[in-house]
Amino acid sequence: MEIKNDKKKIKVNLDGPYTVSGLIPLFDQIMVPDEEGLSTSWKIGKKYPIKQEYELCRCGQSKDMPFCDLTHNEIFFDGTETASRKPFIEQIEPETVGPELVMTDVVALCADARFCDRAGGAWDNTRASNNPEAKKIAIQEVYDCPAGRLVMHDKNGKLLEPKFPPSLGLVVDPVKKVDGPIWVRGGIPIEAADGSIYEIRNRVTLCRCGKSSNKPFCDGKHEDGS
Ligand code: FES
Repeated sequence: MEIKNDKKKIKVNLDGPYTVSGLIPLFDQIMVPDEEGLSTSWKIGKKYPIKQEYELCRCGQSKDMPFCDLTHNEIFFDGTETASRKPFIEQIEPETVGPELVMTDVVALCADARFCDRAGGAWDNTRASNNPEAKKIAIQEVYDCPAGRLVMHDKNGKLLEPKFPPSLGLVVDPVKKVDGPIWVRGGIPIEAADGSIYEIRNRVTLCRCGKSSNKPFCDGKHEDGS
């Protein structure tokens, strides 16, 4: 999929913050759980003033969250980028094939948002996608996956993807009582510290706790506590 936002960009700074440029909206994005703690929907929380450029903390230690206050220098933050540079399609693990839908999966990108577990789970719902209700739930479970770990196609190979305007959501997980990653939506280019551009995608999550083993992307480590 090709998505262009020429002036919008997120720059990953060496052992430092993300520099966000291009008037990209920023707001808290809260996970709404069911009684089992499985995520069912998203709701928008605090909205931050839209600025031409701002710096978001990547080390997890700022006292001015979500913004960088230079604490990364005091703690000698190691923000080394370790994520694969391969495109998503080259990292896919075995696909889940159903009668109407095919779901692809790259586990390394999981941000543990748990939208894929409700109502039997995205895998079983994909396998049962000749049932209209299961099909609808499977697609929504994939659409709600902030990390873009899960990607859905129909049986003809057509990509099914939500339409997102470029924006950043600061994930809040009220069940685990932690702040999650930065949900990057709408194909905003992400530039590595070395100047290369990661594959441009509609949905990805960036680490903002500093603990991911798959930097700059989230791998769910924010749940580990400090
Ligand atoms: S990256 Fe600067 S304070 Fe966290």
